[in-house]
Amino acid sequence: MTMICLGIESTAHTFGAAVCDGSGKMLSNEKDTYKPKAGWGLVPMDARKHHEEVASHVMLKAIGSAGVNEDDIDIIAFSQGPGLPPCLHAGLNFSVDLARRLRKPLMGVNHCVAHIEIGRLMTKLEDPVTLYVSGANTQVIAHVAGRYRVFGETQDIGIGNALDKFGREAGFEFPHGPKIEEKAKGGKWIGLPYVVKGMDLSFSGIVTDATRKLKNGESLRDVCFSLQETMFAMVTEVIERALAHTGKGEVLLTGGVAANKRLAEMVGTMCRERGARSSVVPWEYCMDNAAMIAWTGVLAHRAGQKPLDLQNAEILSRWRTDQVETPWIQRP
Ligand code: ATP
Ligand code: FE2
Repeated sequence: MTMICLGIESTAHTFGAAVCDGSGKMLSNEKDTYKPKAGWGLVPMDARKHHEEVASHVMLKAIGSAGVNEDDIDIIAFSQGPGLPPCLHAGLNFSVDLARRLRKPLMGVNHCVAHIEIGRLMTKLEDPVTLYVSGANTQVIAHVAGRYRVFGETQDIGIGNALDKFGREAGFEFPHGPKIEEKAKGGKWIGLPYVVKGMDLSFSGIVTDATRKLKNGESLRDVCFSLQETMFAMVTEVIERALAHTGKGEVLLTGGVAANKRLAEMVGTMCRERGARSSVVPWEYCMDNAAMIAWTGVLAHRAGQKPLDLQNAEILSRWRTDQVETPWIQRP
């Protein structure tokens, strides 16, 4: 049997555990997501408590549904950062204890890099420009000169949080992205600020203006439509320039907002016009998940990256994508 890796994810809302093998076959992918009290956002200490409470259960479920025993695990990988420190600590403590008990190597994985690696595995894209669009994140990333580098990103809120903020104002239920997508169908363009600065983006002013237009009597449908068209056109522009800069021919869409069909359509159209390919990561693997951590742990371990010293293992809550070594990618 090939190598078996247990992955642990705990950077924000989701505590996840997953098992994969050395060929990238996912044997299980379990999670339990913290839900804030009605009307609240994520409270980091509450999320930590949630993660601590569910950790063992989720891990045992992952092992059980993979059909393996604890003894079959060869390596453990956990999401070391970036993320919210209390949430990361829950994952670190759990993973260190487990690695001690099972006497197995522990790999520290970067959450953002893991989103890309599982995306490459699932879509078979080899060397894409990645759009990572979740609640908190909006980044355009490509692997250049030995590292994943961020070519453009939001200067304020992530695109998912922007949609959620507008959705709250419009009285939708959380999560708001899918409701806005539904509502936008058949809408017409009413014009909203378009804010691209160099390769960076800003969304909070657009949400303010959209909310104002809604309160001033514009139709909800038209505002939802215009909000999507504007924000998605902005990210599409930045992706296109990243393709031009890097000379790459593939685009990978991941993160919760990548579920949006209109976004995939706009990026897809841009790609077709340039002769590039685009692909969206399947839903289960584009949300925060532990499968991506397990797989990236396999890649790192196989490439000879050293496991963490259990005595001194720490979280890296501000671990930047371009600080991550990627010895598993060998390109000129
Ligand atoms: P992170 O901490 O990585 O930013 P998160 O938990 O905030 O993660 P995800 O779980 O990746 O984010 O995604 C959730 C976001 O995706 C929410 O903001 C939600 O509104 C948005 N979303 C989900 N489905 C859609 C959709 N169909 N269209 C647009 N946005 C969507
Ligand atoms: Fe994420």
